[in-house]
Amino acid sequence: MDKRVPQLSYSEVTPKGVYTNRRNFLFGLAATGAAVSGWKSFSRWMSGPATGSVPAPLSGFTKWPDSTTEPITPEKDVTTYNNFYEFGTDKGDPSANAKNFRTTPWTVSIEGEVKKPLKLHMDDIMKLAPLEERIYRHRCVEAWSIVVPWIGYPFSNVIKLAEPTPKARYVAFESYYSMGQMPESVSAGIPFPYVEGLRMDEAMNPLALLCVGMYGETLPNQDGAPVRMVIPWKYGFKSAKSLVKIRFVKNEPPTTWSLATPNEYGFYANVNPHVDHPRWSQATERRLGNFFRRPTLMFNGYSDQVASMYTGMDLRKNF
Ligand code: MTE
Repeated sequence: MDKRVPQLSYSEVTPKGVYTNRRNFLFGLAATGAAVSGWKSFSRWMSGPATGSVPAPLSGFTKWPDSTTEPITPEKDVTTYNNFYEFGTDKGDPSANAKNFRTTPWTVSIEGEVKKPLKLHMDDIMKLAPLEERIYRHRCVEAWSIVVPWIGYPFSNVIKLAEPTPKARYVAFESYYSMGQMPESVSAGIPFPYVEGLRMDEAMNPLALLCVGMYGETLPNQDGAPVRMVIPWKYGFKSAKSLVKIRFVKNEPPTTWSLATPNEYGFYANVNPHVDHPRWSQATERRLGNFFRRPTLMFNGYSDQVASMYTGMDLRKNF
């Protein structure tokens, strides 16, 4: 070590007042964090036993032959690391806060530019088409991903039932919203109810799944019980959870994340490793449960089934 260089400690180079203030600030920050999480656990503990719906075993579904053969993400990860802003914005909030969410009875209203407007009860939805278990890759815009055995059937079955008129060019999805059942939504910073949409050809694509279960059971509340969309070639936020309304419309419908932050989230939201999010790269992703990152695939690896829907479109502009 060079003796000519004076060996100064951090406290010697930083004026005492500054470093003690900084230390106090950091201590305050840690203490506030601990207090908030302590308060959350305390209020959850005080709220008593869960009163909401719980997953029930599903049977009678067949295995879809085109499932990915990649390892399935442990169920524990998929049910405790969620985005469901109605129940809070931390990844652990939905599993903790959706315990009292009641999903029976449940009705989905099908309306707009259709010959047959319908109100479907959950029993009707379960019987509308044969249930399949489909193992899809699912990529969140925040650059984490999961592989999940979803249970459901192509959304096109709902389209055929409702018989859209020629004016219907888009499908708008709306999630359930109740401030009473979802008090954490107040500080989420996005508008509710959560809304999403697809172009009609996207909604007709055989990969677009109306999903009622996963891992052999009906959906847990935090994953979008009792019925949600799963659109595997798009970022996860396109897959609206806990659906109550499906509306066939003429014009591109508003979507929650593009309303909240239009320069960051577009309508199409196709998984695309070549178009970065303004604040981070989309080139790689972390599979939950894995240590190393992996390259993200164009259309999340579903190009063969979906790329032709976007021929001629500039996917940098239509992100
Ligand atoms: N649907 C509703 N109603 N509210 C939400 O906050 N989050 C979206 C999507 N659907 C969200 C939603 C986002 S950002 C993602 S990544 C997926 O749900 C996450 O689904 P998962 O928690 O089952 O993995």
